Amino acid sequence: MTTDNLTGEQVDNSTLGLVDRETRIRRALEHLRNDTTDRFDDVEYFTADEFTSDEVARRERDEIFGRVPTIVAHSSEVANTYDFVTVRMPRNTIIVTRQKDGSVKALVNHCRHRGALLEKDPCGKRRLFSCPYHRWSYDIDGSLRTITRDTTVGDVDTSERGLIELPCEERHGFIWVVDRAGASIDVADWLGPEMDGILAGYDLGDLTCVKSEGFTEPSNWKLMQDAFLDGYHIQYAHPNTAAKYVHTNVMALEDFGRHCRFVAPRKSIDKWLEEDPGEQSLGADVTETHFLGPNSTLLRQPDHFQLLTFRPHHENAGQSVMEMRLIVPSAEKAGITQERWDYLWDKNWEILLAVLHGEDFPVLRDSQVAMASADAGSMVLGRNEVGNQVFRRLLKDLVPGADSA
Ligand code: FES
Ligand SMILES: [Fe+2]
Repeated sequence: MTTDNLTGEQVDNSTLGLVDRETRIRRALEHLRNDTTDRFDDVEYFTADEFTSDEVARRERDEIFGRVPTIVAHSSEVANTYDFVTVRMPRNTIIVTRQKDGSVKALVNHCRHRGALLEKDPCGKRRLFSCPYHRWSYDIDGSLRTITRDTTVGDVDTSERGLIELPCEERHGFIWVVDRAGASIDVADWLGPEMDGILAGYDLGDLTCVKSEGFTEPSNWKLMQDAFLDGYHIQYAHPNTAAKYVHTNVMALEDFGRHCRFVAPRKSIDKWLEEDPGEQSLGADVTETHFLGPNSTLLRQPDHFQLLTFRPHHENAGQSVMEMRLIVPSAEKAGITQERWDYLWDKNWEILLAVLHGEDFPVLRDSQVAMASADAGSMVLGRNEVGNQVFRRLLKDLVPGADSA
């Protein structure tokens, strides 16, 4: 049993065979002392085609996003009945709404009359969705409620004209969708017992999404996802920002197959390089990264979580949307004033945005340009790039053969 220092919950890791957090942190500290890191068995070679080919991109939309659950929002973004968000998924543009019974539905954002985009706003509250074209209206559960001037329209079976529903499930404080009508969804099964157990222990549903923003970038979604599993670039790409606080190329990883998590030491751990920390908790001296395959990074910071989600563009292999969310305890739970709370997260958000826009995005945009070279040679993923290796292995599993296209 360990006490989670963010939620205060007692976490029993032993039944899942998970390694205790303090033990994992000490393993990372040992790596730091020895100038080593966890490593995969072999290096991996790959081609630019995987990042530039429209055919590979189409297969990924269908065979990854059309098949497995991915996160579309935090529960607090649609906290109450009638709340909605709209999301451009790789295959469908959708509306996610909180229902009267408290459940959540994902509906294709497409009027069943003549196909207008039903809801344009990114988020809000609606008692019904009313089409801007001829004002047919739909209940929040997607059923067609009214046909305007219906006596002139003719015989239309309203029960067959509801919005198309996608498989949707709320679990661990997130809303998950499989981007294909008629598919099945089972988030616990997809996460597997280890990651499902880890997320359950965080009680993320009790936290609030205080900041959320999407960025459309001219880079393939895998380039983006890779950068946020990468502990090797910090000192080189972020010398004056992240590298001041976090060590480079030191990771203690647990591999769960489709998902993984790893701790990386912060520089504050350096006081224990020579000395034994004994039983003392070193939880505040690491960042912990969770890869939630296929397209999210959940960062656990000492006092909050940060979720990064990467989605392919719906047609262009060279574009993607990244969403970033800060998921934090309420001011009341954190025991601070609302004013202080607002200030704290505004400040935190500003710093994150500066690093993203100033440091990560330019490198990734230019990588996409470089990879579009007709004669780009093969590339290599090192044994030290363990999070990326787990991601790549999952991609090969979900879209077999795409790596040799
Ligand atoms: S297209 Fe929506 S009401 Fe006509
Ligand atoms: Fe970075």
